[in-house]
Amino acid sequence: MSSVRTVQSRVTGIVVVGAACLTLSCVQAGVSEPASEKGAMPFDPPAVYLTWQRDPTTTMTVQWHSDGGRDDVIQYLRLDERVWHTVIGAHHPMPYSDRIVHVAELTGLEPGTEYRFRFGTNSVAFTFRTMPRDVSKPIRFVVGGDTMESFDALDVWFEECRRLVAEQDPMFTVIGGDIAYANGDPKLVKRWYRWLAAWKKHMVTSRGRLIPLLMVIGNHEVQGGFRQRPAKAPYFYSLFAMPGQRGYNVVDFGRYMSLILLDSEHTHAIDGRQTDWLGRTLANRQDVPHIFGVYHVPAYPSVRKFNNRVSTKIRQHWVPLFEKFGLDVAFEHHDHAYKRTHLIRAGTVDPRGVLYLGDGAWGALPRKTREDWYLTKTASRQHFILVTIDGQSRTFQAIDIKGHVFDQVHQNALSHSIIAQ
Ligand SMILES: [Fe+2]
Repeated sequence: MSSVRTVQSRVTGIVVVGAACLTLSCVQAGVSEPASEKGAMPFDPPAVYLTWQRDPTTTMTVQWHSDGGRDDVIQYLRLDERVWHTVIGAHHPMPYSDRIVHVAELTGLEPGTEYRFRFGTNSVAFTFRTMPRDVSKPIRFVVGGDTMESFDALDVWFEECRRLVAEQDPMFTVIGGDIAYANGDPKLVKRWYRWLAAWKKHMVTSRGRLIPLLMVIGNHEVQGGFRQRPAKAPYFYSLFAMPGQRGYNVVDFGRYMSLILLDSEHTHAIDGRQTDWLGRTLANRQDVPHIFGVYHVPAYPSVRKFNNRVSTKIRQHWVPLFEKFGLDVAFEHHDHAYKRTHLIRAGTVDPRGVLYLGDGAWGALPRKTREDWYLTKTASRQHFILVTIDGQSRTFQAIDIKGHVFDQVHQNALSHSIIAQ
C-alpha cells in the first residue's frame, strides 16, 4: 500500500521525495505568508484530525485527506507570530478508497501553546494547543469507546458531544476502540468518511481548536474481530499515525503522565511480545506520577461473563503487571455500559489495588449490566469519562450525553485512595 511520490511544495518550491508512512519533519522557519491564489477556492480537507507520535508537550501530528491533488505541506505559527513555519510531511493511499492520507509531524513546539495551521497558501486554517509542560495547572481529557450509535444519528450525536466538549474544554480525547464500526470491510469505507467528517465538523472547542485523538483498536476495526493480523485492520492502521510500533504503544507526556495503549487480542496476541513489552514499559516509568492503561476488552466486564476468553487472558497476563508496577487506572470498553470497580489486587478488593473504569458506551446503545463482586457502580447509560489531573489529585467524572455527571470519584496519586461522590 505504500507509494513514493515526488511532490513540489507550492509554498517553498522545495522538491521532496516523500516515502509513504514516513514523517519527514523538514521544518523551515521564516517562510513569509504568500498571497492567496486568485480565484481558487481555499482547500478544506474532507478530514483533518490531530494525533501524536511523540511527546504531546512539544509535538503535534496533523493528518488530513485529499483526492490526491495536494502536496504534503503544512504551515503553522504561534498565535503571536506573523511568519509561518513550513513542514513537509508524507502521504499514503487510504485502503479501498480514492483518498490520500497525508501525515505531517510538527516538532520543537512550545508546551501549553496555541498554534494556527493550514495546508499551504490557499486553505482554511485550524488551531491546536500543545499539552502543558507540567501539571501545575489542571489537565483535562476525555476517555470513551464504542462511539457509534447509528449512522442516521451520527451528526446529531456528534452535535450533542460538541456542546459537551465546549463545556468541558478537554485537551485531548482517547477512544478505546470500536470507532466507526467499519469492521475493516472494503464495502464500509464510507463509514470512516462520515465519522471523520463529523469529527471535524463538531468536535472542536468554542474557540475553533481541534481536539487531538488517541486511538486503541477494537474488534470493529478488524475483519474477523479477534486474533487477526494487522493487515485485517486496514483502515485503523492507515488512518492513524501512532507513537512507536503499530498496535500497542505508549504516549509519554513529559515525565508527568503516560498513557499505555494496548491491543486486546484484535491484531496482536495479549500474551508473549505484547505482555513482555508492557512489563518493560511499566518498569521504565516507575517515576511517572500518573500512568493509565487504555484497551478495548475489559478485564473486569460489567455485561459479559467474567470468564469470557479475552477477559480471562487479560487478567492472566496484564493485570499482574498492572498490580506489580502500580498502574493507576485501566480504562476498559467493549461492553456498552458504565462501570466502576473497587480497587482490585490479586483477585480481591484491596485498597492497594487498581481501579478499572469503563465500559464503552459513548455512542453505542447501552446494555443491561450485571452484579459481581468487583463492581461498585454500574449504569446502562451512554457516557464518556472526563479525567481531571490537578497536581497529585485525579478526578474521574462519568458524564452522560445530556451533560449530567452521574458518577464521580477522586483519587490521590500518592495513596491511591478513592473517594466516591
Ligand atoms: Fe467491541
